[in-house]
Amino acid sequence: MFDTKILKPSDENIDLCATLINQGEIVGMPTETVYGLAANAYDEKAVKKVFAAKGRPADNPLIVHIAEIDMLSELALEVPESARLLAEKFWGGPLTMVLPKSGKIPLITSGGLDTVGIRMPSHDIARSFIKACGVPIAAPSANISGRPSPTTARHVFDDMNGKIPAILDGSECTVGVESTVICFENEGVRILRPGGITKDDLLMVVDNVILDKGILSEVDITEKAASPGMKYKHYSPKTRVILVNGSLDNFLKYVSDNSDDETFLMCFDNDKDKIPAGLNCVFYGSSSKEQAKNLFLILRKLDELGAKKVYARVPSAEGVGLAVYNRILRAASFDVVEVGE
Ligand code: TXA
Ligand code: MG
Repeated sequence: MFDTKILKPSDENIDLCATLINQGEIVGMPTETVYGLAANAYDEKAVKKVFAAKGRPADNPLIVHIAEIDMLSELALEVPESARLLAEKFWGGPLTMVLPKSGKIPLITSGGLDTVGIRMPSHDIARSFIKACGVPIAAPSANISGRPSPTTARHVFDDMNGKIPAILDGSECTVGVESTVICFENEGVRILRPGGITKDDLLMVVDNVILDKGILSEVDITEKAASPGMKYKHYSPKTRVILVNGSLDNFLKYVSDNSDDETFLMCFDNDKDKIPAGLNCVFYGSSSKEQAKNLFLILRKLDELGAKKVYARVPSAEGVGLAVYNRILRAASFDVVEVGE
């Protein structure tokens, strides 16, 4: 058991956390997307601690984080030209590229795969911390497996208290949903998980971008998923989330017929004026960007509020909205009610 400390990101504390990493410990790390649970990607014992602290299935690979593009060639066996161009355009930032792994990455880090997901975050503190560690950093989202990802140091504390020595506090994450994960195919690039870098962003650099079918549909646990993470239950608050798709009027009609005192509504900020007084309602933004930033925060808040059932408005799936839609669909275990426009 650790007495888990939330540390201000001073140079001394960054060095302290880097020392912990070099001693084989794991720590909470901020990034622009969500907080990560960081370990030395080369240290099998440390990586094992990450899987244990999260309760994560061993076949779900970790993303390896770097502080400089140059580190890419140490981790990947081959780097296609398009990957180099994408790195130059979008790193540091919320883009993870799956590439054939070099022998330096242990199989435990890559979940037994011969590929590795690599990302260079834009977050200043993350970059300083990775540099101070002097090794690539394996870091999944710092939540207990299946729970909403953490977007504040406090969320990490709530899930990891006692299990890790320290969390570097880098304030609230600005993107709020995890990075876009892509892999490379003959025809171009396949998006395995949508995130802050959109299909249109990628099309600025590569000619062909396809969306994996697992983004919008359920992947069977027994199937071989392109991205193992897609098989597992995800982003779930304790409360049951149900998506209600349709106009605001039809949404309100449906929920008034199907609610009790412990039911909450999850709506858009621009619905505010039309929500009748007296209903339990939380708001998760208007634009897709705001919804991305707020989604996990709101899902965690609903548990704190003691919600038993949540009816959520369905977000737009355009641009960054695709990431929001992908996450909320999983938070709701694909439970969608159609009420009409
Ligand atoms: O924004 C992010 O990506 C955050 C921050 C901390 O960087 N990290 C994150 O990691 O979301 P995690 O472990 O929660 O999600 C990684 C996802 C999983 O769905 C995993 O299956 C997929 O990326 N992934 C990782 N390596 C892969 C690989 N070699 N092939 C296919 N999918 C991979
Ligand atoms: Mg995760």
